[in-house]
Amino acid sequence: MESEGGAATSAPAEPWGESVLVDFDEGVAWVTLNRPEKRNAMNPSLNEEMVAALDALEGDERCRVLVLTGAGESWSAGMDLKEYFRDVDASGDPALQNRVRRTAAEWQWRRLSTYAKPTVAMVNGWCFGGAFTPLVACDLAVADEDARFGLSEINWGIPPGGVVSRALAAAVPRRDALYHIMTGEAFDGREAERMRLVNEAVPAANLRARTRELAQRLAAMNPAVLRAAKTGYKLAAEMSWDQAEDYLYAKLEQSQFLDPEQGRSQGLEQFLDSKSYRPGLGRYARG
Ligand code: COA
Repeated sequence: MESEGGAATSAPAEPWGESVLVDFDEGVAWVTLNRPEKRNAMNPSLNEEMVAALDALEGDERCRVLVLTGAGESWSAGMDLKEYFRDVDASGDPALQNRVRRTAAEWQWRRLSTYAKPTVAMVNGWCFGGAFTPLVACDLAVADEDARFGLSEINWGIPPGGVVSRALAAAVPRRDALYHIMTGEAFDGREAERMRLVNEAVPAANLRARTRELAQRLAAMNPAVLRAAKTGYKLAAEMSWDQAEDYLYAKLEQSQFLDPEQGRSQGLEQFLDSKSYRPGLGRYARG
């Protein structure tokens, strides 16, 4: 493409391709943490790339659902113990420490937990320490039943940092959380399913197919309503009942205002007038 002055211009480069890879497949963006040689440990540059990738994908029509996975045999071995901790400590620069922490938090829970589109974690292998934060921040999670999880921090002399313990408190029963925080004992995908850290654990051979099936089901649903439903659930959990009631009614009205499909009136028409659909037996037929 040529600009008026004759200088060559091109579409802006996509903000991934180094530590983060993105593939699109029928409405699903497969986002892969890509440092397999470091078991996808999250260093400052991966964290920056993830913030930029999430921002770009939120407005990208090729992404109706986001799946987060890892390259190679790991989902993520947690925070990069060298580049995120030791090197930053050694710099003696408090501003740098603030910056790298803020960037990590920015994608691992702030953006991800209220992301505009449905998110599914596909846990394909090691999942340790700081990796629990994006795992819990994703709406849903499917794991390889032999994936290995662990809150290994206690084993090398620190309590879990960031919001790892807060994420656990939101996702799993207290006894399971404290057992694993205090012992550092690793567990597999089956155990993660039992404690509801993931929705389901499946054999490795079925992991991608099952995740794809779930993601495509979400990709076919009404995006405005899905967004209101998931964000409403997550934020209302932090409110008093009175606040939650007011907020959730406001959310319902907001979703009608923002929904170009007008799913609510279509659904009511299909149930009450044309009698073509019963809500208890599935989704309304989208027009
Ligand atoms: N931070 C920095 N580097 C890491 C890392 C982390 N969290 N996890 C793995 N790596 C690096 C290793 O240092 C090694 O680098 P090298 O090849 O330059 O020596 C490389 O990744 C491969 O790791 P290795 O331990 O040889 O792989 P493995 O397959 O035998 O074991 C793990 C995988 C995940 C069990 C193991 O690497 C591990 O215990 N990692 C730390 C997990 C952890 O405690 N995370 C919490 C951080 S909050």
